[in-house]
Amino acid sequence: CRVRHYKFNVVTRNTTRLCSSKPIVTVNGQFPGPTLYAREDDNVLVKVVNHVQYNVSIHWHGVRQLRTGWSDGPAFITQCPIQPGQSYVYNFTITGQRGTLLWHAHILWLRATVHGALVILPKRGVPYPFPKPHKEVVVILAEWWKSDTEAVINEALKSGLAPNVSDAHTINGHSGPVANCSSQGGFRLPVESGKTYLLRIINAALNEELFFKIAGHQLTIVEVDATYVKPVKLDTIVIAPGQTTNALITADQNSGKYLVAASPFMDSPIAVDNLTATATLHYSGTLANAPTTLTIPPPQNATAVANNFITSLRSLNSKKYPAQVPLTIDHKLLFTVSLGINPCPTCKAGNGSRAVASVNNVTFVMPTTALLQAHYFNISGVFTTDFPGNPPNVFNYTGSGPSNIQTNNGTKAYRLSYNSTVELVLQDTGIIAPENHPVHLHGFNFFAVGRGLGNYNPNTDPQNFNLVDPVERNTIGVPSGGWVAIRFLADNPGVWFMHCHLEVHTTWGLKMAFLVDNGIGPSQSLVPPPSDLPQC
Ligand code: C2O
Repeated sequence: CRVRHYKFNVVTRNTTRLCSSKPIVTVNGQFPGPTLYAREDDNVLVKVVNHVQYNVSIHWHGVRQLRTGWSDGPAFITQCPIQPGQSYVYNFTITGQRGTLLWHAHILWLRATVHGALVILPKRGVPYPFPKPHKEVVVILAEWWKSDTEAVINEALKSGLAPNVSDAHTINGHSGPVANCSSQGGFRLPVESGKTYLLRIINAALNEELFFKIAGHQLTIVEVDATYVKPVKLDTIVIAPGQTTNALITADQNSGKYLVAASPFMDSPIAVDNLTATATLHYSGTLANAPTTLTIPPPQNATAVANNFITSLRSLNSKKYPAQVPLTIDHKLLFTVSLGINPCPTCKAGNGSRAVASVNNVTFVMPTTALLQAHYFNISGVFTTDFPGNPPNVFNYTGSGPSNIQTNNGTKAYRLSYNSTVELVLQDTGIIAPENHPVHLHGFNFFAVGRGLGNYNPNTDPQNFNLVDPVERNTIGVPSGGWVAIRFLADNPGVWFMHCHLEVHTTWGLKMAFLVDNGIGPSQSLVPPPSDLPQC
């Protein structure tokens, strides 16, 4: 293993997309940002220098950060933000992980343009558990707004209404050929007939789950969220914001151009978005003006296509990579994840009410001091540890909302003892409308042991749990009007954020934190904070 040094200059850059230019916040002037490479066991040091007018922080999404919560990145959870003109060195070691992850800004809506790939190669000399690809290609899916994204969310918060959806989706920064703006071609993926490629697909979008497919070619999924899975061959994948998928594709045609499409998956009846980003798979030797073989992406509400992908994923669970699913459980938790409406006298457009989101009816209020600092230095009054382990009201998903639509505000964490095992059922409830929530847990991977539609039944549903080879992830979609059950070992002391990775729902309060404590005090279980840790 070795030490890898990176420097991230956070700078504003004028960028042109969809035929118009605007200044965006970037890392090193790039959109998407630079790819960070490391090997399993490497120590990674990233010096982030803030040259913009916003506070910033960077999250290494999916990196376990064993005892190094100070480098996790969510603003006001594990660190105060890096203020304009300041810098901070993120310092972490990659332990027991290999595959594709992503890094992104974890403050405001800066993630829209501040994101990139994190590629973790296996230890030197350790092969992949699948045939070595001819080449590897990072494929980052994201969104583009014509207006400033901070203005988009601020406007929505003022009105109480939902923010606008993006103006386009992007594949490696481009949407594909746009009418009357033909100078902006899409991303081109060159291939040679007969060769196999590894696509490292990342969804970095703020607010959209996406389908991804390539005309005339099948994808063999070999890894998700930097954990190996049993290879499965499909023509369409679904990927939520924060998730990553490694897929092999064999260029098994002789020549030609084939459409690559990324289109929204949203089965909520209230949201509409049919923007498709396109790119081209281009066989070497094919003329530039040759016709492109097209494909029709699934419709926005193609729940069956999404379910087919999700339910076909299994941990590789080989001798070398066993699935270590916790079999006895110390903490059994049931959390509802919901959208709701609270009173807001100043919200004129929202008719005196505003959209909110909650976990177990608690709408998380961001603190002004980082929770991890409050925990480590024993600063009182920042957060409480009375987050409810069960819904305070009886929920009943019937397609219409229950009567408890008003949520409580709070900055609450749930306390887990160090090395305890946790089973957490996440239940979507339809307060405004059911919606698929991709929930991300910081600091841990978890096993997705169960999933269903309707109300979770604690008496019968556990009988169908997969405790042998469930997929292991860090971000999971809670199906609309349904539930998922996850299990993990709380082997990482610190404060760990959990939230919906649809940024609009995070902003509305669908977030909470776990406090993992070994009972002998934080100074014994965490490394001390680095001297350059930003102060609030
Ligand atoms: Cu990728 Cu807390 O986020």
